[in-house]
Amino acid sequence: MSAIDDIVVADVFDLAAQRVEAATGLTFAGLRRRQFDAALERMAGALGLPGAAACASWLLAGPWDDALSALCARFLTVGETYFLREPRAFDLVCDQARALLARGTVRPLRIWSAGCCTGEEPYSIALALRRDVPQLPPERVDILATDLNDAFLDVARAGVYPRWSFRRTDPAELAPFIQSLGDGRFEVDATLRAQVRFAQLNLASGTYPSAMDVIVCRNVLMYFGPDQAARVVARLRAALVDGGWLVVNASEASTRLFQGFTPVYLEDAVFFRKDALPAPAPVPVESAPAAARPAPAPRPEPLPAAAPTAPVAPDDAAMARVHALAQAGGREEALQCLRRAVEAEALSAPLQQRAALFALEQGDPALARHCVRRLLYLEPDSAFGHYLWALIEDAAGRRPRARSLLRDCRRLAGAADAELGGAAAAWLERMS
Ligand SMILES: C[S@@+](CC[C@H](N)C(=O)[O-])C[C@H]1O[C@@H](n2cnc3c(N)ncnc32)[C@H](O)[C@@H]1O
Repeated sequence: MSAIDDIVVADVFDLAAQRVEAATGLTFAGLRRRQFDAALERMAGALGLPGAAACASWLLAGPWDDALSALCARFLTVGETYFLREPRAFDLVCDQARALLARGTVRPLRIWSAGCCTGEEPYSIALALRRDVPQLPPERVDILATDLNDAFLDVARAGVYPRWSFRRTDPAELAPFIQSLGDGRFEVDATLRAQVRFAQLNLASGTYPSAMDVIVCRNVLMYFGPDQAARVVARLRAALVDGGWLVVNASEASTRLFQGFTPVYLEDAVFFRKDALPAPAPVPVESAPAAARPAPAPRPEPLPAAAPTAPVAPDDAAMARVHALAQAGGREEALQCLRRAVEAEALSAPLQQRAALFALEQGDPALARHCVRRLLYLEPDSAFGHYLWALIEDAAGRRPRARSLLRDCRRLAGAADAELGGAAAAWLERMS
């Protein structure tokens, strides 16, 4: 193939990727581009086309329709999910069910699993409600589960799963809601299956439902480019009742993307509560993130502050870059950028604090520890620094150390930061 042929083929791939992104929201910029090329190769095999380049040309020829989006979804999305994944989300749903009952509301609790994959997530929601809030009758629970990929939805509707779908739980403990078929597979009980409505919905272009109490949209936004993600979040917000909750994966959480929400940070999760007021106009994703101080968390082990208690320079360009990279799906690049900022701003306590929090959210405890150490070197009496350190120690299983740090946090917070002191005290109580 000549150099010109190479350029033409590269252009065809680029154009096909752009067309797929426009139709489905799935972005293949940067490192993901290789996945796109590999997926086209597989798609070509399935369609009987001679190769990935022919498949790219085929995607560019003729009008686009939903069937093409569904076909792309089959090859371009990843079905990574399992039962009771990141269980705090299910605690939140159960809390909302209890709140509904306490209010004496007669309408059903409405939950939407957006990007439900093969169904483990919505069935986990149904299961958690039946198991943990048995006083709420199943007919008062309305669970909608949607995905772009209709092949995933077929699996979901069948409700039969391999042991791998229960990789963080023992399916035997989920009886009678999950039953062994005796051949290594497990079936979701028919009454639980009847509680979940599955439907195909493209989050990039489809019609969203409305009046949801909780939307669980985890590990989906990461497929989208920053603009598409912002549009989807705004539409998810519109689909919630006032005060409703949006649950995303902690690594997808950014106060900038979630305009019109109040973030509530827990020890290992972040939830977004829809504010009653209209959402402000979306902020361009390239601008500096507005670090918001979240409301007190409703669950145990709250992390009561997302923002530094010390003043933060509003034009903190380093953190803006870090967040922009993370939002574009570049976790590793974001962490690299953060490491550079941490060293460049070694004497900035606010930056070290924000960096520690970001590293924790991104699952890099070593970097978080490094930043917390710096922070406490610069501000030995930082109550929030002690709280962050307690989180790191607790996550590493060093409970006595975490307890001692929490006691220091409570003492240092004193009356000046009663919310933080209260959170530390509450956590200590639960630990004892
Ligand atoms: C990694 S799975 C997440 C499953 C589940 N939410 C969880 O966290 O366990 C991502 C899902 O998002 C779906 N998805 C990707 N783009 C989508 C779109 N534009 N509209 C709807 N679903 C989409 C994929 O098909 C896939 O099932």
